[in-house]
Amino acid sequence: MTGFIANLRSSIRTRIRDTVIRHYKRSGVVLFSDTTLRDGEQMPGATLEPDEKLQIAKALEAAGVHSLDAGFPASSEADVIAIRKMVGVIKGPVLTALCRTMNSDIDAAESALSENPMRKRGVSLFCGTSPLHRQHKLNKSKAEIIRIITDSIQYAGNAFRIIAFSPEDASRTEVDFLCECYREAIDAGATTIGFPDTVGILTPEKTANFIKAIQDNVPNLDRALLAVHFHNDLGLAVANTLSAISEGANVVQCTVNGIGERAGNASLEEVVMALALHGDQYKRTCRIDTTKLAPLCQMVAELTGVAISRMKPIGGANIFATEAGIHQDGLLKNPDTYLPFRPETVGADGIQLVLGRHSGRKAVAHRLEQIGVDAADDLVATVVEAIKRQPKGSVIDDVVLKQLVKDASVA
Ligand code: KIV
Ligand code: ZN
Repeated sequence: MTGFIANLRSSIRTRIRDTVIRHYKRSGVVLFSDTTLRDGEQMPGATLEPDEKLQIAKALEAAGVHSLDAGFPASSEADVIAIRKMVGVIKGPVLTALCRTMNSDIDAAESALSENPMRKRGVSLFCGTSPLHRQHKLNKSKAEIIRIITDSIQYAGNAFRIIAFSPEDASRTEVDFLCECYREAIDAGATTIGFPDTVGILTPEKTANFIKAIQDNVPNLDRALLAVHFHNDLGLAVANTLSAISEGANVVQCTVNGIGERAGNASLEEVVMALALHGDQYKRTCRIDTTKLAPLCQMVAELTGVAISRMKPIGGANIFATEAGIHQDGLLKNPDTYLPFRPETVGADGIQLVLGRHSGRKAVAHRLEQIGVDAADDLVATVVEAIKRQPKGSVIDDVVLKQLVKDASVA
């Protein structure tokens, strides 16, 4: 009787799980799984204290991410502390812990996450599958790798219902073997299968081919979500992520500001904005609040100490700043003339018209008006010429500008 009830419970759980997965797949929503706190923090010098991780986790929750790769408990006590701080506080996203396909890693994940409700905690298992990893890192045959994967998924099933499995170095794994790993992983109980481009080697076209091959050769894929994870070694992580989305990937793993191992990961904010601006193309919804993006980028830069390049899309200092006269004139007439989206769309401060050698009369007159300096057209023209003569590196702030007006007035 007890056995019968246990079996009944397990089959009800499986049915609920399959229904939830089918619901996500049909809904067309792109689920964001953020890995800033794990792959992002793996970047040399990007160390975060547990309280800082909690702060970022709260901001990611407010932005609407579906799940948080919260850390690697078996690798660091600080990760365990950080995860425990998130438990009970971060209630929206699923918290997942990274694990090698080892029981001791899964035990460490369980101990870190045990106080989180079952439906909000998960493990993210990985095991190298490419010939390079099999031969040089693991020294295991294909059959042994499959066994390790299925055993660890089954073991994880004792403590977790959300189980992701990623074949590390998937993009350099033979497609046949890759798909075999996925089929076996799903049969063993994986609820998500990941496709990591571990060394960032793919192009968007090759990404699309991989995703199609997985869909064609993993018949039980209807029972698991397909997640993708791209590194940026060729500067293509975002493009590859979008290609995978076009082909039907359900979950995208990204980091804020694209921080991560080597050249980093796909930038969450860039993928979100591409989806937001090209809904007609992707026809997928995304639950991220775009107005939270710029402050999130700033927070991650400040807390990790990894500065954002001025030109970095979405969060960079130049994104809403221009010194060029023609652009300044256009922006003053209508901001959309020279912007793909307005600052408020991503929660950024306003447009910045920087005064310098390339600036024109419109921007100078506009700034003078803003700071309450009444200047006739010929005076503005003299000031513009004076700005052009300033030495390289000069910053034309309001003090300098007023001085230039004063000099021009007495000349
Ligand atoms: O890039 C990678 O392969 C990873 C795994 C741990 C999934 O980050
Ligand atoms: Zn990675």
